[in-house]
Amino acid sequence: MQTGFDIKENEKGFIELKKYMDSLKDSQGILMQTLHKAQSIFGYLPIEVQKFISEELNIPLAEIYGVATFYTQFSIDPKGKHKIGVCLGTACYVRNSQAVLDKLAETLKVKVGATTEDGLFTLEATRCLGCCGLAPVMMIDDEVFGKVDPNNIPSIIASYEK
Ligand code: FES
Repeated sequence: MQTGFDIKENEKGFIELKKYMDSLKDSQGILMQTLHKAQSIFGYLPIEVQKFISEELNIPLAEIYGVATFYTQFSIDPKGKHKIGVCLGTACYVRNSQAVLDKLAETLKVKVGATTEDGLFTLEATRCLGCCGLAPVMMIDDEVFGKVDPNNIPSIIASYEK
Protein backbone atom coordinates (compact mmCIF):
# COMPACT_ATOMS: atom_id res chain seq x y z
CA MET A 1 0.00 0.00 0.00
CA GLN A 2 0.95 3.63 -0.36
CA THR A 3 3.08 4.66 2.60
CA GLY A 4 4.40 8.02 1.40
CA PHE A 5 3.45 10.90 3.64
CA ASP A 6 2.96 14.18 1.80
CA ILE A 7 3.99 17.13 3.99
CA LYS A 8 2.41 19.68 1.63
CA GLU A 9 -0.91 17.86 1.60
CA ASN A 10 -0.89 17.73 5.37
CA GLU A 11 0.02 21.35 5.94
CA LYS A 12 -3.22 22.14 7.76
CA GLY A 13 -2.55 19.27 10.13
CA PHE A 14 0.88 20.66 11.02
CA ILE A 15 -0.62 24.09 11.69
CA GLU A 16 -3.25 22.54 13.96
CA LEU A 17 -0.59 20.52 15.76
CA LYS A 18 1.64 23.56 16.24
CA LYS A 19 -1.27 25.53 17.72
CA TYR A 20 -1.97 22.65 20.08
CA MET A 21 1.68 22.45 21.18
CA ASP A 22 1.75 26.20 21.78
CA SER A 23 -1.32 25.90 23.99
CA LEU A 24 0.45 23.27 26.10
CA LYS A 25 3.64 25.23 26.62
CA ASP A 26 5.54 24.14 29.73
CA SER A 27 2.81 21.76 30.87
CA GLN A 28 3.59 18.31 32.24
CA GLY A 29 3.53 15.32 29.91
CA ILE A 30 3.67 17.50 26.83
CA LEU A 31 5.18 14.77 24.64
CA MET A 32 2.46 12.19 25.32
CA GLN A 33 -0.30 14.76 24.80
CA THR A 34 1.32 15.96 21.59
CA LEU A 35 1.70 12.44 20.22
CA HIS A 36 -1.97 11.72 20.98
CA LYS A 37 -3.01 14.89 19.22
CA ALA A 38 -0.74 14.17 16.25
CA GLN A 39 -2.15 10.68 15.90
CA SER A 40 -5.72 12.01 15.98
CA ILE A 41 -4.85 14.53 13.26
CA PHE A 42 -2.81 12.32 10.92
CA GLY A 43 -4.16 8.88 11.87
CA TYR A 44 -0.64 7.66 12.69
CA LEU A 45 2.81 9.03 13.48
CA PRO A 46 4.94 9.10 10.32
CA ILE A 47 8.60 9.99 10.66
CA GLU A 48 7.95 13.46 9.19
CA VAL A 49 5.55 14.22 12.05
CA GLN A 50 7.98 12.81 14.62
CA LYS A 51 10.71 15.09 13.22
CA PHE A 52 8.42 18.10 13.42
CA ILE A 53 7.57 17.36 17.05
CA SER A 54 11.25 16.77 17.81
CA GLU A 55 12.19 20.21 16.45
CA GLU A 56 9.28 22.04 18.04
CA LEU A 57 9.68 20.51 21.48
CA ASN A 58 13.44 20.25 21.32
CA ILE A 59 13.33 16.57 22.21
CA PRO A 60 15.67 14.12 20.42
CA LEU A 61 14.01 12.22 17.58
CA ALA A 62 15.25 8.93 19.05
CA GLU A 63 13.30 9.62 22.24
CA ILE A 64 10.13 10.41 20.30
CA TYR A 65 10.53 7.30 18.17
CA GLY A 66 11.07 5.27 21.35
CA VAL A 67 7.82 6.51 22.91
CA ALA A 68 5.86 6.18 19.65
CA THR A 69 6.91 2.55 19.24
CA PHE A 70 6.69 1.56 22.93
CA TYR A 71 3.04 2.38 23.56
CA THR A 72 0.50 0.28 21.70
CA GLN A 73 -1.93 3.19 21.38
CA PHE A 74 0.48 4.81 18.93
CA SER A 75 1.21 3.60 15.44
CA ILE A 76 4.05 4.62 13.17
CA ASP A 77 2.43 2.83 10.23
CA PRO A 78 -0.59 4.12 8.33
CA LYS A 79 -3.92 2.54 9.25
CA GLY A 80 -6.52 1.37 6.78
CA LYS A 81 -9.67 3.33 6.05
CA HIS A 82 -11.61 0.79 8.14
CA LYS A 83 -10.31 -0.63 11.37
CA ILE A 84 -11.43 -4.17 12.19
CA GLY A 85 -11.02 -5.39 15.75
CA VAL A 86 -11.77 -8.98 16.69
CA CYS A 87 -12.22 -9.62 20.39
CA LEU A 88 -9.98 -12.33 21.82
CA GLY A 89 -11.26 -11.80 25.37
CA THR A 90 -12.21 -14.97 27.27
CA ALA A 91 -15.95 -15.01 26.49
CA CYS A 92 -15.31 -14.48 22.80
CA TYR A 93 -12.34 -16.81 22.68
CA VAL A 94 -14.36 -19.75 24.04
CA ARG A 95 -16.95 -19.00 21.38
CA ASN A 96 -14.29 -19.35 18.74
CA SER A 97 -13.41 -15.77 17.90
CA GLN A 98 -10.06 -17.12 16.73
CA ALA A 99 -11.91 -18.68 13.77
CA VAL A 100 -13.43 -15.25 13.04
CA LEU A 101 -9.99 -13.69 13.11
CA ASP A 102 -8.53 -16.43 10.90
CA LYS A 103 -11.35 -16.05 8.38
CA LEU A 104 -10.78 -12.30 8.25
CA ALA A 105 -7.05 -12.78 7.72
CA GLU A 106 -7.79 -15.26 4.93
CA THR A 107 -10.46 -13.07 3.28
CA LEU A 108 -8.39 -9.89 3.46
CA LYS A 109 -5.08 -11.67 2.74
CA VAL A 110 -3.45 -9.82 5.58
CA LYS A 111 -1.77 -10.70 8.87
CA VAL A 112 -3.14 -9.58 12.22
CA GLY A 113 -1.86 -6.10 12.97
CA ALA A 114 -1.35 -5.26 9.30
CA THR A 115 -3.16 -3.24 6.66
CA THR A 116 -4.41 -4.52 3.32
CA GLU A 117 -2.52 -3.63 0.13
CA ASP A 118 -5.30 -1.26 -0.99
CA GLY A 119 -5.26 0.57 2.33
CA LEU A 120 -8.92 -0.24 3.01
CA PHE A 121 -8.66 -2.40 6.14
CA THR A 122 -6.44 -2.82 9.18
CA LEU A 123 -6.99 -6.07 11.06
CA GLU A 124 -6.43 -6.17 14.80
CA ALA A 125 -7.07 -8.47 17.73
CA THR A 126 -8.49 -6.71 20.78
CA ARG A 127 -9.23 -7.34 24.42
CA CYS A 128 -12.81 -7.55 25.78
CA LEU A 129 -15.01 -5.02 24.00
CA GLY A 130 -17.53 -5.00 26.85
CA CYS A 131 -20.37 -6.87 25.12
CA CYS A 132 -19.52 -10.47 26.04
CA GLY A 133 -23.20 -11.54 25.77
CA LEU A 134 -22.81 -11.12 22.01
CA ALA A 135 -19.70 -13.30 21.76
CA PRO A 136 -17.94 -13.75 19.45
CA VAL A 137 -17.72 -10.03 18.80
CA MET A 138 -15.91 -7.93 16.26
CA MET A 139 -15.98 -4.24 15.45
CA ILE A 140 -15.55 -2.46 12.16
CA ASP A 141 -14.90 1.20 12.92
CA ASP A 142 -17.70 2.05 15.40
CA GLU A 143 -20.05 -0.73 14.41
CA VAL A 144 -20.36 -3.81 16.62
CA PHE A 145 -21.00 -7.23 15.10
CA GLY A 146 -22.22 -9.87 17.56
CA LYS A 147 -22.48 -13.66 17.36
CA VAL A 148 -20.30 -13.52 14.27
CA ASP A 149 -20.32 -16.58 12.06
CA PRO A 150 -16.99 -16.90 10.18
CA ASN A 151 -18.95 -17.96 7.09
CA ASN A 152 -20.52 -14.49 6.95
CA ILE A 153 -17.18 -12.67 6.94
CA PRO A 154 -16.79 -12.40 3.14
CA SER A 155 -20.21 -10.74 2.73
CA ILE A 156 -19.60 -8.37 5.67
CA ILE A 157 -16.27 -7.34 4.14
CA ALA A 158 -17.83 -6.96 0.69
CA SER A 159 -20.34 -4.45 2.11
CA TYR A 160 -17.41 -2.21 3.18
CA GLU A 161 -15.63 -2.51 -0.13
CA LYS A 162 -18.41 -0.67 -1.99
S1 FES B 1 -14.78 -11.10 25.80
FE1 FES B 1 -15.35 -10.36 23.88
S2 FES B 1 -16.67 -8.74 24.31
FE2 FES B 1 -16.04 -9.42 26.24
